[in-house]
Amino acid sequence: MKVLGIESSCDETGVAVYDTASSGAAGLLAHAVYSQIALHAEYGGVVPELASRDHVRKLLPLIRQTLDEAGLRLSDIEGVAYTAGPGLVGALLVGAGVARALAWGLDVPAIGVHHMEGHLLAPLMEDNAPEPPFVALLVSGGHTQLVAVDAIGRYRLLGETLDDAAGEAFDKTAKLMGLPYPGGPQLAKLAETGVPGVYKFSRPMTDRPGLDFSFSGLKTQVLLAWRDSDQSEQTKMDIARGFEDAVVDTLAIKCGRALDAAGCDTLIVAGGVGANKRLRAKLVEMCEKRGGRACFPRPSLCTDNGAMIAFAGALRLAAGQHDDLAIRATPRWDMATLQAL
Ligand code: KG4
Ligand code: ZN
Repeated sequence: MKVLGIESSCDETGVAVYDTASSGAAGLLAHAVYSQIALHAEYGGVVPELASRDHVRKLLPLIRQTLDEAGLRLSDIEGVAYTAGPGLVGALLVGAGVARALAWGLDVPAIGVHHMEGHLLAPLMEDNAPEPPFVALLVSGGHTQLVAVDAIGRYRLLGETLDDAAGEAFDKTAKLMGLPYPGGPQLAKLAETGVPGVYKFSRPMTDRPGLDFSFSGLKTQVLLAWRDSDQSEQTKMDIARGFEDAVVDTLAIKCGRALDAAGCDTLIVAGGVGANKRLRAKLVEMCEKRGGRACFPRPSLCTDNGAMIAFAGALRLAAGQHDDLAIRATPRWDMATLQAL
């Protein structure tokens, strides 16, 4: 089944085609992402109304481009999946409206996909994918969650952030040192040349039991360190390194505990921060030490994309699930309420 996937929940327009006739990476026939970063940069964050309008401008050309790359015509599409939430309501409505209308016009089923389930299942699009049960670490700009995956569609929240998400902490920390939006990837780049140990920040909430996170205090620690420093380029790098090490260690400690709690040794990692090199290396090492493995999507499928939506939707459509004719946009949506496959 060839499924067109559409992602428009925030500041990336993503389109892809996934074909369930092949498994793993071979099923992904084409995918394209248009990022609105330049549009929002001058405001220092995403402006919802501008995001919606840009999705309107970019979505149809991107669908044409993706179909061309896959060597397909619209009439080859057998199902349409779109991000129904969580996200910015106006942005979601653009993708939902186009997706639902296309499916209706083509007389094929449509399904609204949970954005975080998309992220969570993205590592399964790669070759040699693990089978549930496993633990998922979801680390994006809006979410930091540890989820026990008993089966595809059956998710139990083990822990989450009580304040800032990991990506948000990266972005805010970058901003306070003067890096342009979205600073996460740039902060990670600076950290590569920073000296470890020059700045040592705390590993929040690791000194007590539990699987919840808190990252907002870390940002304050960086702010104080930055204010009291010489603010040189080298200092910026050293602080970036200290901050990244603190986040990576904290995530690794909690992932280890989550694997213990769930009684398994397979960890999957997804969401934008999953592209972070040091986090990937640390989690691989941690899982190997305990005889398990850590699985990630390729970096381009960690951040928002249409492929994960096409894939998650394709799994559900192939299992016979689909929506009615309603255009669904659910800005807040608990993943635990999803139907098992
Ligand atoms: O999953 P995503 O693309 O969008 C959301 O659903 O939020 O995640 C975006 C987040 C941003 O906060 C961004 O700064 C962060 O992921 N991010 C990174 C890296 N690449 C993206 N954070 C740290 N290191 C990276 N290499
Ligand atoms: Zn996302």
